Amino acid sequence: MAASPRAFVPRHTHLGPVPGLEAIRLYLADDVLPLWHAVQVETGDPDAALPYWACAWAGGLAIGRYLSENPEVVAGRRVFDLASGSGLCAIAALHAGAAESTGADIDAFAAAAIEMNARANGRRVTIVHRDVLDQEPPAVDVILAGDCFYEVNLTGRVLPWLQRARDRSIEVLVGDPGRRYLPTDELVELASYDVRTTTQLEDLEFKQGRVYTLRR
Ligand SMILES: C[S@@+](CC[C@H](N)C(=O)[O-])C[C@H]1O[C@@H](n2cnc3c(N)ncnc32)[C@H](O)[C@@H]1O
Repeated sequence: MAASPRAFVPRHTHLGPVPGLEAIRLYLADDVLPLWHAVQVETGDPDAALPYWACAWAGGLAIGRYLSENPEVVAGRRVFDLASGSGLCAIAALHAGAAESTGADIDAFAAAAIEMNARANGRRVTIVHRDVLDQEPPAVDVILAGDCFYEVNLTGRVLPWLQRARDRSIEVLVGDPGRRYLPTDELVELASYDVRTTTQLEDLEFKQGRVYTLRR
């Protein structure tokens, strides 16, 4: 593991506005593949995870847009951002008036990025750096899940966890651009946005990012 993910993040990214959510600034990568290589070198791990934290993903961008248009969803409420990455959704929730916001991610670089991005936006996000999906959902009012359905195994764990949260009367928002494993039968669409992604890993620069809640 890197001596300091906090030093690594600003060294390999640039702080700049998020396309379509210009009030939010994030440390984002100019080019993800060289950054991925740098992560592999820094960690000494050729199987190191992609630096998801250095991009604003289409699902998170859609949630950010939705919260800027519908701040009442989170205003004054406790928000938990699952698979937070850069912390985009957690920060967008605070911009929209959330009382408190937590970002959870399993990646140590993401944990550092969330903290640094929150600070760059004059916000404070509580960071949970562990896998919470085998635990009960937290005691919050709203859970945000931006771009979580890109892997079959993750989908198989995220969906029942979000459904447990819904059954406890936690409001759940999913943001997604139509990833392969998106469980559309379990979702109700709330809004759709053209979002400009910041990653070269996508097939299109502009994507249709949709926001959903869980079907009852
Ligand atoms: C595609 S990124 C989405 C990031 C952010 N929500 C956005 O929309 O920009 C997916 C994130 O999920 C995280 N992740 C994967 N498995 C996880 C798990 N079990 N618990 C929490 N985060 C997880 C990854 O580390 C990565 O940062």
